[in-house]
Amino acid sequence: MPVFQELPLLGTERINRAYLRISVMAPELAEKCRPGMFFELKAGLPSQTRRLFKPISVFEASEGKISFLIKVVGPGTRALAELKPGEPLLLLGPLGNSFHLVKGQNALLVSGGIGYPPLAWLKRVLEPHNRVILVHGGSCAEDLFPCDRGYTLDGSSGDRGLVTQDIMDIIKTENIDIVYSCGPLPMLKALQACVGDLPHYASLEAYMACGLGACHGCAVPVGEGWQRVCKDGPVFAASLIRWEEL
Ligand code: FES
Repeated sequence: MPVFQELPLLGTERINRAYLRISVMAPELAEKCRPGMFFELKAGLPSQTRRLFKPISVFEASEGKISFLIKVVGPGTRALAELKPGEPLLLLGPLGNSFHLVKGQNALLVSGGIGYPPLAWLKRVLEPHNRVILVHGGSCAEDLFPCDRGYTLDGSSGDRGLVTQDIMDIIKTENIDIVYSCGPLPMLKALQACVGDLPHYASLEAYMACGLGACHGCAVPVGEGWQRVCKDGPVFAASLIRWEEL
């Protein structure tokens, strides 16, 4: 059972105006992390006491260090961004399941916006045993991170357009065997419509209250029933998701 921990922030690395990477040293927790898992995070400052925790995917866990990519979108993430090294970070996790790992495959990873971190880490984990292509898209140049093919809606970096626009071509020309994804719902829906019968593992984003499987506030239609993104996911076999009900 994951427990809340308070750890001193190890460091902050500003990526650009909107994004930064924060990290903590937590060898025991890092050992349990797998690509796809997430933590509930909150700045451990008196001003944040009444604020809800934010579910944030693990960007990387290695050599005892866990890092997260934060996009500043409101007061909670701004407080995380303004934490100084040594100030307290409250964490609960690692939570959720992780991506199914394969060997000897041509894997296509597709991410949108802040869906990038789990797939960037998954790429590094899959690469020794597979051929991996990471395709990433965002609104503008600030949303673009290192990848094999990038797209922005405004054309300020990479190709102009949606990250899903060339997927059918990529699947065919690169002989793709398996697809992994994380990003906004419209992107995931469009992607699932492109992949046909290929195995596709999608990490879903959802509003979360408890983050522990207790409130059912994050339930999504999967198979014959409903499953909780925080506890049964966030990674699901995309073929089992009833996309039309989302
Ligand atoms: Fe409460 Fe998922 S957030 S069950």
